[in-house]
Amino acid sequence: MLTEEENRLLTQVGPGTRMGDLLRRYWHPVAGESEFESRSTKPIRLMGEDLLLFKTLKGEFGLVARRCAHRGSDLGFGIVEEDGLRCSYHGWQYDLGGACVHRPFDETVAGAAALRRAVKIAAYPVKIKGGMLWAYLGPLPAPELPDWETFSWPNCFAQVVIAEIPCNWLQCQENTVDPVHFEWMHNNGPKRRAGDFGPFSPKTLKMGIEDTEYGLLSRRYREGTDESTPLWSVGRAILWPNGWYFGHHFEWKVPIDDFNTLFITWSVLHVPRECEPYAQASIPTWHAPIKDQNGEWIISHVGNQDIVAWISQGPIADRTHEILGASDVGVVTLRRRLLEDLDKVAKGQDPRGLIRDPARNVKIPLPCIAREELMNGLPREQMEKHPVMGPFLRDFYSMAGQPDAVRQAFEEAMGVRQSSFEVHSFVPQ
Ligand code: FES
Ligand SMILES: [Fe+2]
Repeated sequence: MLTEEENRLLTQVGPGTRMGDLLRRYWHPVAGESEFESRSTKPIRLMGEDLLLFKTLKGEFGLVARRCAHRGSDLGFGIVEEDGLRCSYHGWQYDLGGACVHRPFDETVAGAAALRRAVKIAAYPVKIKGGMLWAYLGPLPAPELPDWETFSWPNCFAQVVIAEIPCNWLQCQENTVDPVHFEWMHNNGPKRRAGDFGPFSPKTLKMGIEDTEYGLLSRRYREGTDESTPLWSVGRAILWPNGWYFGHHFEWKVPIDDFNTLFITWSVLHVPRECEPYAQASIPTWHAPIKDQNGEWIISHVGNQDIVAWISQGPIADRTHEILGASDVGVVTLRRRLLEDLDKVAKGQDPRGLIRDPARNVKIPLPCIAREELMNGLPREQMEKHPVMGPFLRDFYSMAGQPDAVRQAFEEAMGVRQSSFEVHSFVPQ
């Protein structure tokens, strides 16, 4: 349970708020690079700031304030130039650093003197990694953008999925340190709804949480296993402050504002050995619906089941009235570490998990269950039987709404035809 003040501290993300200040010290994935194959600008709201992502004619990416400094026109209607963005109203042009470098009519009447008075809009650095665009909105110098080893695995098919979630980022991230939800949210609940009265999935028997360099490590094991299971001996990485790593899947919860969150996932599957060598020309990005045509929340897929749990806690979960139980040890640790980080930032120190040394930031491995198989692949027959890889060969069970073109590209890479299966009939690892 938190006080009202603590809950506000952890959930308010706008400019000038303490958590907003903390979150701005990390790189966040904000879009897919492939989205810019068919567009050159994309309006985006991040941590309460209305911004515009754009790709110049030269192919560089920029992120600037959404409004033109002149008379406030929306730069979302702007025109991209060789090395910047031009407002479509009167043609003022901005470079990647947000400086206004052209004011066409003013220059016509006053020549270069028209630019003497510096005009600048907010601008933030953007980098590309894993087919995603990452933004950094914090104080400079920026830390390293983590180069997780998984982004470089060869012979893999990756996809980026984005969903907009109408609730605060923290309750989405609390899900990462809450492994008991697997058996209820993803197994027993769907089973019962399908009219299947059992047996229920194996119970979680033990869970643990530890501090690590990159954030936290979550361990657990279920009935029928013990501490020798990789879910305990290896565990899962909680990437500070808003990510999660599963080996075959990363996810991040990037605040749009206090009441909305960008849920970005990066899923990867090694092609069967028989299909090597394989090089993916472009990592597709798609936007996942969270409601169906009837306006009902989608709960058929694992990610969608999580999403409804987060949203149903309210726009900002009220942590002043909750009754925490034994399963919340991770949740309590997560909150405590975030509060500690707020204090560190207030003292001018770096919060946890930042990488400052470029020499260290080269293909960093993370704890990964089944790393060997996921990274190096398996012959098709073994892959089909593999508890993590097999289900993905049959269906993209993470999120509903995968476009046909992505499914077809996946099937071509894997040499399979996918067919749906009932998510509740298997136990997600
Ligand atoms: S409002 Fe943008 S150039 Fe005038
Ligand atoms: Fe989940």
